[in-house]
Amino acid sequence: MTKRGFFICIEGLDKSGKTSQSVILVETLSKRGFNAIYTTEPSDGEIGRFIRRHVLRRERRVPAVVEALLFAADRADHTENMIKPMLQAGKIVVSDRYLHSSLAYQGATGLDVEWIRKINRSAIKPDLAIYLDVPVEVAMKRCVNNKSVMEWPNIQRRVQNLYLQFVRKGEMIPVNGNRPMEDAAKDILTLVLERLNC
Ligand SMILES: Nc1ncnc2c1ncn2[C@@H]1O[C@H](COP(=O)(O)OP(=O)(O)OP(=O)(O)O)[C@@H](O)[C@H]1O
Ligand SMILES: [Mg+2]
Repeated sequence: MTKRGFFICIEGLDKSGKTSQSVILVETLSKRGFNAIYTTEPSDGEIGRFIRRHVLRRERRVPAVVEALLFAADRADHTENMIKPMLQAGKIVVSDRYLHSSLAYQGATGLDVEWIRKINRSAIKPDLAIYLDVPVEVAMKRCVNNKSVMEWPNIQRRVQNLYLQFVRKGEMIPVNGNRPMEDAAKDILTLVLERLNC
C-alpha cells in the first residue's frame, strides 16, 4: 500500500472565509514542516474552467441537474488527477470546497441530496471536513457588488440548513467563523493537529 496523506475540506456559505482559512492553514502547516498543498473547486482542470466560464458567470442559471452533473464531473477529474496523487505522495491536501458544497448548493435548488451523493460516488471521504459557521447576514456584509442581492440571502439560508444537517450527522465539524480570522484559524489548526496526532 502506498503512503497515505491527509485530506481536509473547508466548507461554508459564500464569503464565510473558506479561501482565507484554507490559505492560512496551508501556510501554517508548511511553516511547521508539513507538506501541505492548497486546492479548490471548481478545479483548475478543463471541466473546472468550463464551469467558471459557462456556469458561474452566466446571468441566467443553467438547469440545476446540469450544474450538479458538471460539478460532479469536475470533482471526479480533480480527485483522480490531483487529490489522489497528492495524497498518495503523502501530502496534506486542503480543498477549498469539495463534495459538501455540491450537496448543499445543488441540494438547495431542490435536487435530491441522495441523488447528488450517488453521482459523486467517486469522491473520497475527507479525513476532516470543516464547516465555517457564519450567519447569512454577516456573510452578506462581506459581499461587495453582489449582483443577485434579492435572492442571495434566501439561497444562502437553504444552503446553510443543509450544511447544518451534515454537521448534525457528524460528517462535518463546525468552526465559528464569525470572529477574527486568526481565532478561527487557531481552532482549525487544533482540529487538524489532533487528527494528525501531533
Ligand atoms: N473572520 C473574518 N472576519 C472578517 N472578515 C473576514 C473573515 N474571514 C474572511 N473575511 C473577509 O471576507 C471576505 C471573503 O473572504 P474569503 O474570500 O476568504 O471567503 P470565501 O468563503 O472564500 O468567499 P467565496 O465564497 O467568494 O469564495 C474577504 O474580504 C475576507 O477578507
Ligand atoms: Mg473563496
